[in-house]
Amino acid sequence: MIYHFAPVQGHTDAPYRHFHAHNYGAETNYYTPFIRLEKGELRTRDLKDLSSHLNEGTHLVPQIIFRNPEELTTLVGILKKNGASEIDLNMGCPFPLQTGHGRGAATVADAELAKAVAEIIEGNPEIDFSAKIRLGLDRPDEWRNLIHVLNRIKLTHIAVHPRVARQQYSGELHLDQFAAILQESSNPVVFNGEIRTPEDIDNILDRFPGIAGIMIGRGLLARPSLVKEYLSGNEWSRERRVAEMIRFHRDLLDYYSASLCGESQIISKIKPFWEYAEEEIGRKPWKAIKKASNIAKYHSAVASIEI
Ligand SMILES: Cc1cc2nc3c(=O)[nH]c(=O)nc-3n(C[C@H](O)[C@H](O)[C@H](O)COP(=O)(O)O)c2cc1C
Repeated sequence: MIYHFAPVQGHTDAPYRHFHAHNYGAETNYYTPFIRLEKGELRTRDLKDLSSHLNEGTHLVPQIIFRNPEELTTLVGILKKNGASEIDLNMGCPFPLQTGHGRGAATVADAELAKAVAEIIEGNPEIDFSAKIRLGLDRPDEWRNLIHVLNRIKLTHIAVHPRVARQQYSGELHLDQFAAILQESSNPVVFNGEIRTPEDIDNILDRFPGIAGIMIGRGLLARPSLVKEYLSGNEWSRERRVAEMIRFHRDLLDYYSASLCGESQIISKIKPFWEYAEEEIGRKPWKAIKKASNIAKYHSAVASIEI
């Protein structure tokens, strides 16, 4: 069973991944948030994230988002030049800015594009490809357009978030559709969605014993020890979880303080650390952190977290 830390734009960048691995033992595979082309080239910040020395020692897979075979070919070429041996294809992003341009979840129902994607993958046998998909844009059975094409090629896995793009990140998970993908995919399938506790991991493994892995996004941001706890067989007390989270936060804040210029930059980079942790740290400190307008207020908000 392989555990994957899902890419989350604005959160899981190189410093976060590095200090997460440092504090929690690199038990997961990590992904870059999606990398895309802008005026035919990688954005500077994507390139910086991809080539950061902080990536050393982690299993990092660059993820790309594309709308046509040309974009895909260009991105694969650039990543190869940067030494990538694995690439994850984002075929699930629900943001209208991406789907509106034919990227992300909009690619799921595009059978023609899928064929071209398969050819590009076959033309790059030195790269291990994986795909991250949704069920579709609007209907939860749109993946059927894609699966027979994916079945003809070898992927390390397909990670499935069993929602449609219209649902964004909430609402019912279509577990019946997930079960159908698991049955019909000839590639290993990874489950992704709403895993928050060790019990949730157990429930998914009980229900879908055939999966090859579990991918967790917000659940790991809220409780960074989740996979480590699960693998150790012992659920940690809330006190221990929060104490370790504060240590992880300290490392990240020290790094930002040393590498960024000015309070406002530091605050805007570090605040998202707590975004999904309201339940874990309590509503009052969580709100105080959100409201903090300078570093002194931020420090006192973090200090108000009860352990
Ligand atoms: C703010 C935000 C940004 C995200 N950015 C990406 C991304 O860059 N690439 C990607 O494949 N998924 C992205 N996702 C989706 C997550 O990887 C994941 O599939 C989703 O949150 C569902 O899993 P979870 O319930 O474990 O969080 C993003 C999700 C959120 C909420």
